[in-house]
Amino acid sequence: MITLYKTIIMNTRVEKALNNQIEKEAFSSQFYLAMASWAENQGLNGTSKFLYEHSDEERFHMLKLVKFVNERGGKAIIPAIGLPQNNFDGIADVFQKLLDHELIVTDSINELVDICLQEKDYTTHNFIQWYVSEQLEEEALARTIMDKIKLIGNDKGGLYLFDRDLENSSIQVSNPNATV
Ligand code: FEO
Repeated sequence: MITLYKTIIMNTRVEKALNNQIEKEAFSSQFYLAMASWAENQGLNGTSKFLYEHSDEERFHMLKLVKFVNERGGKAIIPAIGLPQNNFDGIADVFQKLLDHELIVTDSINELVDICLQEKDYTTHNFIQWYVSEQLEEEALARTIMDKIKLIGNDKGGLYLFDRDLENSSIQVSNPNATV
């Protein structure tokens, strides 16, 4: 009896776009790690905890892509990561930069969706929908935080309460092998 195996070969344009996304997620993790470290040095323990967790979450986003590319017959490239900004003008600067960065990531995810449709790669298109939803949540969270920071203004008591609130919040980092 002859068994025929169909080898999966990933579309090269999709593979390149996924590797580009791996680099963006890796940089996000590094960028938020730099923000977390800065906040820790400022004594903003809640903010730093939140940002350390956010950095872990971005690493998970990267890892999920790495595993998908390799499992689908492509080759994930682990990128060199540039030096992130390490100094910030204050908490508003940190979270504005985080929001701006998430908007760049959303554009990149949307471009990836577009490439999947152009190349008729519906499997990757389906996979990437998880990232589309994730971006919606992350943008909403960053906007909510920015709104709170604008309300606080220069009020030191408000900053204390804001930092304490972040200490009690938590970001769930999921299993990269999970499908959702
Ligand atoms: Fe993975 Fe926040 O983008």
